[in-house]
Amino acid sequence: ADKRVECITKKIASYPDFPKPGIVFKDIFSVLADPPVFKDLMVIFEERIRAICPDVEIIVGLESRGFLLGTPLALALGVPFVPVRKKGKLPGELKQVSYKLEYGTDVFEAQANSVKPGQKVVIVDDLLATGGTMKAACDLVTSLGGAVAVCFVCIELVDLKGREQLTKPCDAIVKF
Ligand code: PRP
Ligand code: HPA
Repeated sequence: ADKRVECITKKIASYPDFPKPGIVFKDIFSVLADPPVFKDLMVIFEERIRAICPDVEIIVGLESRGFLLGTPLALALGVPFVPVRKKGKLPGELKQVSYKLEYGTDVFEAQANSVKPGQKVVIVDDLLATGGTMKAACDLVTSLGGAVAVCFVCIELVDLKGREQLTKPCDAIVKF
């Protein structure tokens, strides 16, 4: 077993009944608050992306916690970072998609020319729960003309079966 993954797993805080009864909220910010553990997390992401998708051309990060992992990764890999944002935040010509959350619904948007046709995209987020968010992001990137190679999350909540929503491969560093 990878000692680094054990450290990351131990660092992730759990909050029962947040934001609603019955949901056990996994909190990535406790990892970001510990620089050596955060560093390990980013190095693992980078290693796995280089192994699985060495010719990645764009990192797409999902608002908001996907930005925190996606931007340092894009910088480390030397490829552009492109944001997928919640409705009303991005200027210019946009594409949008609506999606269901574990607790609510929302609309995602991306800038129309942020991905060139056929570009190889890796999508990054903090967590896969029901999978609605990641599925919407895959659909949005596809509608932009991008080729989604693989999705990456730090945390997968396995019981919620989010993976079953996805038609693209998804790699998770920590599974609960
Ligand atoms: C959370 C989380 C994922 C998504 C996972 O984001 O960061 O993006 O929900 O849920 P799903 O797999 O059931 O769709 P949230 O929408 O709370 O946004 P935030 O990162 O801005 O807090
Ligand atoms: N933690 C953080 N974000 C989430 C969760 C969670 O457990 N479930 C859905 N979004």
